[in-house]
Amino acid sequence: MTENEPLPVGLVGCGNIFERYVNGLRRFGHEVEVVWCADIDVRLAERRAKELDVPKAGSPADAAADRLGFAALVVNLTPPAAHASVTRQFLLAGKHVYTEKPLATSLRDAQELLGLASRQSLSVGGAPDWFLGRTARTARGALTRGEIGEPLAFSAFITHNQVESWHPNPAIFFQPGAGPVLDLGPYYVSALVDSLGPVRSLAAVERTGEATRLVTAPGRVVDSITVEVPTHSTAILEMESGVIGTLTMSFEAWERNVPFIDIYGTGATLSLPMPLERDAPVRVKRHEEDAWRELELVQGTDYVRGMGVADMARSVRAGAVPAASGERAYHVLEVLSAVGESNLKRKFIPISSTYQEK
Ligand SMILES: NC(=O)c1ccc[n+]([C@@H]2O[C@H](COP(=O)([O-])OP(=O)(O)OC[C@H]3O[C@@H](n4cnc5c(N)ncnc54)[C@H](O)[C@@H]3O)[C@@H](O)[C@H]2O)c1
Repeated sequence: MTENEPLPVGLVGCGNIFERYVNGLRRFGHEVEVVWCADIDVRLAERRAKELDVPKAGSPADAAADRLGFAALVVNLTPPAAHASVTRQFLLAGKHVYTEKPLATSLRDAQELLGLASRQSLSVGGAPDWFLGRTARTARGALTRGEIGEPLAFSAFITHNQVESWHPNPAIFFQPGAGPVLDLGPYYVSALVDSLGPVRSLAAVERTGEATRLVTAPGRVVDSITVEVPTHSTAILEMESGVIGTLTMSFEAWERNVPFIDIYGTGATLSLPMPLERDAPVRVKRHEEDAWRELELVQGTDYVRGMGVADMARSVRAGAVPAASGERAYHVLEVLSAVGESNLKRKFIPISSTYQEK
């Protein structure tokens, strides 16, 4: 592999999101090349490899031992409960690892991964990476330019993604490591910290709705699932900057009449789209204006799965910290882990981590 050749990348976990990563990464073909895919279900890996023209497929153990060919960077697309063990397995095999969110399902596991990566001089990072796209950069640019004056507060609402109606096996979304807090919360907290800086403390209450849910997705492999996590959590966040806000994370709110993320400033309100959407409107309304104004999106590519992986590949080559760094993912996880802790202890939880902007 020379300086000008794309960095060889392997994908572990060939489930629902896999195809979007393969296609997304191909948009960055001059920087990364998918050379293998692996899954504990080896047949699935082989079938998906054939369908999507991935050169080699096999087991995670074969992949880690380079028996499927050499990958310098591995993308972890396994379910949340497997994130820490799979990331550890590939860090120990000497690979840089980019993982889907969350970084791990416990802070202790996440800390151990950051320590291991640092001792091995490897990069670890992970989703969400929406903040790299031009929709997020447009919002951030508006805040930096002072378009809304001084940001004071925000409201953010995660409503139900109705995963039972589109994912063939949505069980993982209702298990520890997911739920609205760890499945969708990372997108919103990542967008909020990108816009407003790190979180200082948080208080939250949460509850669980029905214990069993019906699966209605076409091609479903299960008819019902057991709910093992809170399905409605509501939090108050205090940012280092002094900005305060509320964040509701719900698999109970099926219908939406609330903003995705509204940021209230001394002179105006900035309204962000769902922090996953591409080329979606970022709107602003000054107090003295009658109507909302759509901001012109900044130049550049909008969000596509794999953007953070391509950035990590560039950073690995430059010996730099990736934008979607492990420290950033850890901060997001610490914030979201504080939701359950606050609910149990009935008090504000201080957030001790922070991260360096790239
Ligand atoms: N599906 C989505 O729309 C979506 C969107 C954003 C993020 N994600 C994230 O992507 C990840 C994967 O989600 P998904 O929906 O593709 O899940 P999925 O259940 O469809 O697929 C996961 C795959 O990982 C494999 N796997 C499980 N344990 C493994 C292990 N130890 N080693 C190797 N392979 C293993 C499974 O066999 C399965 O094929 C999750 O972290 C999820 O939060 C998914």
